[in-house]
Amino acid sequence: MPPLLASLLLGLGGLTLLADVIVVAGGGGGAKPHVNHGRFKAGPWEVGHVTFYGGRDGSGTTEGGACGYKDTAAEAYGVQTAAVSPALFDGGAGCGACYEVKGVDKAVVVTATNQAPPPVSGQQGEHFDLTMPAFLQIAEEKAGIVPISYRRVACTKKGGIRYTITGNPSYNMVMVTNVGGAGDVVAMMVKGNKRVKWTPLQRSWGQLWKTEANLTSESLTFRVMTGDHRKATSWHVLPSDWQFGKTYQATKNF
Ligand SMILES: *[C@@H]1O[C@H](CO)[C@@H](O)[C@H](O)[C@H]1NC(C)=O
Repeated sequence: MPPLLASLLLGLGGLTLLADVIVVAGGGGGAKPHVNHGRFKAGPWEVGHVTFYGGRDGSGTTEGGACGYKDTAAEAYGVQTAAVSPALFDGGAGCGACYEVKGVDKAVVVTATNQAPPPVSGQQGEHFDLTMPAFLQIAEEKAGIVPISYRRVACTKKGGIRYTITGNPSYNMVMVTNVGGAGDVVAMMVKGNKRVKWTPLQRSWGQLWKTEANLTSESLTFRVMTGDHRKATSWHVLPSDWQFGKTYQATKNF
């Protein structure tokens, strides 16, 4: 795709700032696309409590979390994120899930991008450690710990699913971000356009998936399955000259 068109598409998606690091796929795979019926539905309300972490601008929350996201601000999660207690984090399987978190009268929708400490003693339900900007949307800073109600909601993301491969040709680590719908990837496969047949990846940690298959010099298609068993296939999302460390965005999402 010509760079101009790529940046145009990015501009439409509101991602202009990222135009130099994100490449939008050409789309169109030819094979029969998988069709999911219906959409992810919000879950029941539960009780819990929130605290906050990081700085007033979200600093200290965007990099190096337990989900393996490299930079959640650049990956378009912004500061609308939360670390979630171990039961919700679920060994990394809960990464990418979205929650509506409601205080006394205001609510915020956040994506789980990190692991929080276990529930605070004396508090009810699960623990959400919100970024400070997210916390301040529903409570006052001096409140410290606030009881909330929360529920799983569909993730609304701009643009397609994003893939970044790091590592080396004999050990690939794939980071998957910006996943809509249920948001939590529970299975992932890759296929090349030449040698590589459909190959399952294994969760390394968080939302980092690994394979020892040699993926170099092939156009790559990824298929992800979210926790609600819906699937999305990103046909040829990486061109055959894909590079380690570069982020590629599919045309589609859930
Ligand atoms: C991976 O495949 C490429 C292209 O066929 C080849 O040149 C390269 O040597 C392979 N690398 C490894 C580590 O097997």
